Amino acid sequence: MQKEILDQLASAALDKTPVNGYTHNFYRYPARFSPTFASTAINLFSKRGDIVLDPYMGGGTTIIEGMLQGRRVIGIDLNSLAVFITKVKTTKLTPSEKKIILNWVKEVIPILKYNKTVKKIIDDLTDKRLKNMNFPKAKFIKKIINEALILIDNLPSQNARNFVRCAILKTTQWALDGRRSHVSLQQYRYKLHENIYKMLYKLDEFILTLDTQYNQFPNCDLYESNAEQIDKIPFFTSDNKVDLVVTSPPYPGLHILYHRWQINGRRETPAPYWISDCQDGQGDSYYNFGSRHQPNHDSYFETSLKTLQAIRQVMRSNAYIIQLIAFSNPYSHLPRYLANMELAGFTEVKKNSYKEFSDSMRIWRDVPNRKWHANLKGKTSGSKEVVLIHRAE
Ligand SMILES: C[S@@+](CC[C@H](N)C(=O)[O-])C[C@H]1O[C@@H](n2cnc3c(N)ncnc32)[C@H](O)[C@@H]1O
Repeated sequence: MQKEILDQLASAALDKTPVNGYTHNFYRYPARFSPTFASTAINLFSKRGDIVLDPYMGGGTTIIEGMLQGRRVIGIDLNSLAVFITKVKTTKLTPSEKKIILNWVKEVIPILKYNKTVKKIIDDLTDKRLKNMNFPKAKFIKKIINEALILIDNLPSQNARNFVRCAILKTTQWALDGRRSHVSLQQYRYKLHENIYKMLYKLDEFILTLDTQYNQFPNCDLYESNAEQIDKIPFFTSDNKVDLVVTSPPYPGLHILYHRWQINGRRETPAPYWISDCQDGQGDSYYNFGSRHQPNHDSYFETSLKTLQAIRQVMRSNAYIIQLIAFSNPYSHLPRYLANMELAGFTEVKKNSYKEFSDSMRIWRDVPNRKWHANLKGKTSGSKEVVLIHRAE
């Protein structure tokens, strides 16, 4: 592997520009990686028309960047919310669907209220998806959303309904998740209005870029699936093998809240599933390769091995897998992770010069402002991520 390629990947991994551009900001998916990193990895390790896979796609960073570079992209995640968000970010709207959305903005947003409910579609007491939505700052927002969702149901297009749900998701995440101060009805309405216009603009920009660059709109297939069962996905045949994987798997010892918002301190709500009309999973261990409290993280490494083996099955020989991964305890977890990679049939490509971390063979980066539950041990903070480059044997 040429040194220049690794240098370019290293500088992309160290890029600290906030996530921006195209449809990336339709939702702040936890632990998303930078579009620059995904785009550079795709550019350096694959060519136009190649099949690029992200088996833990989260908010779809790899998917969007892969489409922009004319790759055939496949995204997989067992979180239905991740699939919903990535789908909205990558779906082309027709002029009539855009008109439906703009009419909804004009007719519905000004009449959204919280002191009268048009019709009750939620049962506050029994609907589990509304857990912790009764705090003063959340309760009136819950009522506004309830009204908004009823008025989405009448829209005559699934794409338009999904788009508006995603805008409500984005606006409510802004209004509630980790926020200390209250948001007024006026502010909520204003933000929702602004978000829909900005999102339509960003989606247009994305679609226009694709339309002007490619004769055919780049294909992207998204699957709600456990990566362990990737070989069951009919797309993968002996003729359709993956040329490149760019991904960020769950992290050992670091539990990320992919499926909850935190309101009123650390109270968690599953409201994102209610708003997006998605099925919730089975608690945080479902999305993190096992329980936060597992001794030695054995179940993490067992699940990780099974998924890596399954991913290897759908890759062609000599294809690369580029991962960005964080460890709560790199000194014990990194060797175990690397052993799994080897067992699954991958060989590591190492970088020989590196300044910032004692491990000089790999690219490490700091992660600012990351929220997670870490079982911290050793000297290294839980907010260091490493780039791993492997080749399928
Ligand atoms: C670190 S996040 C990926 C973030 C993504 N790179 C982005 O930019 O948004 C890891 C993802 O893995 C998903 N995941 C966890 N276990 C999985 C499994 N067994 N199969 C597929 N996806 C899984 C989680 O739901 C989460 O979305």
